[in-house]
Amino acid sequence: MDMVNYGIIGCGMMAHEHIQNIALLPHGRVSVVFDPVRELAEAAAELAGHCGAAPAHIADTLEDLLAHADLDAVVIVSPNHIHAEQLRQIVATRPLPILCEKPLYTDPSDKAELISLFEEYPHPVWIAMEYRYMPPVAALIEQAESATGGIAMLTIREHRFPFLPKIGDWNRFNENTGGTLVEKCCHFFDLMRLILKAEPVRVMASAGQTLNHKDETYDGRVPDIWDNGYVIVDFDNGSRAMLELCMFAEGAQYQEEISAVGPKGKIECRVPGPGRFWPTDLGPAPIPQLIVSPRAPKGPTLVEIPVDPTLLEAGDHNGSTFYQHQRFNAVVRGQGAVEVTVSDGAKAVAMGIAAQESAKTGQAVDL
Ligand SMILES: NC(=O)c1ccc[n+]([C@@H]2O[C@H](COP(=O)([O-])OP(=O)(O)OC[C@H]3O[C@@H](n4cnc5c(N)ncnc54)[C@H](O)[C@@H]3O)[C@@H](O)[C@H]2O)c1
Repeated sequence: MDMVNYGIIGCGMMAHEHIQNIALLPHGRVSVVFDPVRELAEAAAELAGHCGAAPAHIADTLEDLLAHADLDAVVIVSPNHIHAEQLRQIVATRPLPILCEKPLYTDPSDKAELISLFEEYPHPVWIAMEYRYMPPVAALIEQAESATGGIAMLTIREHRFPFLPKIGDWNRFNENTGGTLVEKCCHFFDLMRLILKAEPVRVMASAGQTLNHKDETYDGRVPDIWDNGYVIVDFDNGSRAMLELCMFAEGAQYQEEISAVGPKGKIECRVPGPGRFWPTDLGPAPIPQLIVSPRAPKGPTLVEIPVDPTLLEAGDHNGSTFYQHQRFNAVVRGQGAVEVTVSDGAKAVAMGIAAQESAKTGQAVDL
């Protein structure tokens, strides 16, 4: 297959990032889109056209999208709580290669069924946890072993802006998102497993809703989503990791800061948030950094890891959505293997659910 025809399921904010990045692929084009809000589907179809392909066909329902003739792969970009049912529908109706946005599921009872659903599935299924491919994070992953001599402690700090408004306000309530430590933080739990090359055994968390969204109401209900917390995770190789999340820290220069320390030294990276939120009067947006600090002889070295401006323009995630699509596209065309599997997606969500539980009960949760 030379050209992969994509169907986009859900046409909100993140769908635009997928469409813009598919447009950068030499072997990809969006052929069909679906969103229950017709105007959003129309805008997405038009965006696909502006990106150089023919305007995409607009499907009236998911069934219509799956019946479209020119369709080789689908991207699920609907709200979190809808992913599981749409995955089931695709498997039952027209099995195709799938790139599914995180989180894989929000209801713990879906985990086992989804894993078995895809055990014998004849096509690639990739869960969209693209933080792995942010250039500064990828550089840290590549150099972590040599810089640290084997990681003992890993810390991931995200200091960012509050949750953005979403279509239908689905992200204001835990019942739709799975909870902040699932919705947002599954990315970081995925990174912990990947960087430490180990599996989590115990999760302890303290988290809550301190500042954000408390003065909003939707059909008389105030949002219940948390905006800050700490999560500590013990891993089966003896290493430990910590997540620090604060969602009222958009004034920070860098959004994610990841550090790993071992017997030889420390390595860290600093990742800026979306460039479109950086005030132009402050000059150019911060450039990602990688810092290696050996113990002996002492002498930290800092290198900048700039991201290709074309990729920065195509989304909010430091180019990572492009690198993810590049790999997924190759896999669909028979080259390479899935790197973020259904099992990876499920494990990251399970860690988030355990963290939500631990913060609620004040007890450690064994995995
Ligand atoms: N990987 C990342 O870094 C990242 C970043 C942002 C969002 N996301 C994920 O992408 C997904 C969408 O988030 P968003 O920010 O685009 O939200 P959004 O609200 O902007 O878009 C969601 C869209 O889905 C549509 N929708 C609702 N029900 C649907 C259905 N049954 N079928 C198809 N579409 C339906 C809505 O009308 C809306 O247009 C979420 O799962 C979110 O967690 C991932």
